[in-house]
Amino acid sequence: MKTQWYKNAVVYQIYPFSFKDANNDGWGDIEGIISKLDYIKDLGVTAIWFSPLYKSPDFDYGYDVSDYTDIDEKFGTMADFDRLLEECHKRGMKVIMDMVLNHTSIEHPWFRKAVEEKDPEYKEYYIIRKGIERNGRLYPPTNWASTFTGSAWEWISGTDEYYLHLFCKEQADLNWENPKVREEIIKILNFWLDKGVDGFRYDVFNMFSKVYPFKDDDSKSFQKGSPYFVDGPRMHEFLKELNEKSLSHYDSFTVGESYHPSKQNALEYVKEENKELDSIFNFAHLDSDNIGGAKFFYKPFDLKQFKKGLFDPQRDNYDKGWNTLVLENHDNPRSVSRFGIDYRHYRYEAATMLAGITYLGYGTPFIYQGQEIGMYNCGFKSIDQMKDPVSHFVYDLMTGYDMPRSLAFRFIRYGARDHARIPMKWDDTINAGFNDGHKPWQWDDKDSSVNVKADVSSDKSVYRFYQDLLKIRKKDAAFIYGKTIEHDHDSKRIIAYERVYEGRRFFVLGNFSKKKTSYTLPDFVKEDELLINNYEDFEKKDGKIVLQPYQVLAFGRPQEESHRRVLKRVRRVN
Ligand code: GLC
Repeated sequence: MKTQWYKNAVVYQIYPFSFKDANNDGWGDIEGIISKLDYIKDLGVTAIWFSPLYKSPDFDYGYDVSDYTDIDEKFGTMADFDRLLEECHKRGMKVIMDMVLNHTSIEHPWFRKAVEEKDPEYKEYYIIRKGIERNGRLYPPTNWASTFTGSAWEWISGTDEYYLHLFCKEQADLNWENPKVREEIIKILNFWLDKGVDGFRYDVFNMFSKVYPFKDDDSKSFQKGSPYFVDGPRMHEFLKELNEKSLSHYDSFTVGESYHPSKQNALEYVKEENKELDSIFNFAHLDSDNIGGAKFFYKPFDLKQFKKGLFDPQRDNYDKGWNTLVLENHDNPRSVSRFGIDYRHYRYEAATMLAGITYLGYGTPFIYQGQEIGMYNCGFKSIDQMKDPVSHFVYDLMTGYDMPRSLAFRFIRYGARDHARIPMKWDDTINAGFNDGHKPWQWDDKDSSVNVKADVSSDKSVYRFYQDLLKIRKKDAAFIYGKTIEHDHDSKRIIAYERVYEGRRFFVLGNFSKKKTSYTLPDFVKEDELLINNYEDFEKKDGKIVLQPYQVLAFGRPQEESHRRVLKRVRRVN
């Protein structure tokens, strides 16, 4: 049944709120997405992951689902979705749905029945515990912290009970120990698979299984309580069950968003023989300019850390499980505004270098909307312009500890998820072509100097570079199956690696610096074709080459035949 189509795939992530607003009401919508499918296809994309389109009260912008089998009105109807699916398939693009299964919205009928109607059956759908009484006062059952700050427990008014929420208090954690919950989830997966969708991205999946009995966390964990809810003891069993009862009956793909998994677990989740997930996201390299993964805390960019984060999973997963390649998503600032990059001077060069060194690696490329034209961070001027609840929670926390407001805001602006969530810039007309002029749901700085129309017609087009890059990946199976061998690990400017497969070697080289850097190419490269270059040429001096700021090069001799063989193999299984 499984063809492993995802190994050849290039995935584009759409954040529906902000992609394209066809009915001009301020919210992106399905009709808008359909109108841009050719644009996505032409980039070289073969699958689209949609951030949640389901009904939601939007406390966490779609990640608090109140109906898993219906489309939210602001995006359209189920009939619109069916058309979207058909239009994607017509263009040869697969559809990946976001599945938020660790928690539901508190407006989900299950939660309402559990809490408002006190239905004992539905109480078992959630994690509800009696609080602790001390000196006539009620305290949460444990000292666990929510990922989004504050206690992970919310009091149920009029009772002595609390429910668990590892994110916003409007996102109540499901009780995966309850077989009925798992049955419901399998029904949801099958509902979408029967419609014809091709796979899922599981939101924060490695929090499904909790550790019982619950106790206070006395360890020095990065988040209080995390030993009780990260990589819990039944994680592997739960994933296998979903696979056995649902996914394995379809030619599907799963990618899991994990939350600080252990190295061992990260591998077990994706090992092919385990039949749990096809891949997970690896974000460690994205923490190379913040302190210990805390996005709001600036640290000077550390290229060695970036390289370790990027290459370790390629090495660890090689030939065992599948990998993913990521630079951005809806939870991170724009990549050209990070990693010590001066995007005002080197936006094109850095955007293309980042793409080159990332997407020629081992794994499926994931591209976030706007990244393909080199969109940069938004010039937010005050916290009120930001919509993400996390920006507000952390700002309130900081100012609550008497940090000056301007300083707190500087921290937030550094790591805010809001940067990625502003409306997509299509052209230089009103609201950058997102819609016909209605005020968009999310404030933005009205800087539309970078937009699709301008980018594709520019001499220095990030979009066209992406197109070329994605074509190169299709020219040789080595870019899919090749082993990654890192070079120059200790260099503070160079990022370089080989992809090796069936006697062929490809070489990828990037100057992750605004300083010219000379480099001696390995001997095996000398006779090779130059496949990728984000400058017109490259300089040679005394047997060395001189890389320009953020220059990226790739060399090799592709055998298109090898790729055709692989495709044929995939089709045969089909
Ligand atoms: C994931 C999503 C994020 C959301 C969180 C809670 O990390 O990517 O946007 O806030 O889960 O669902």
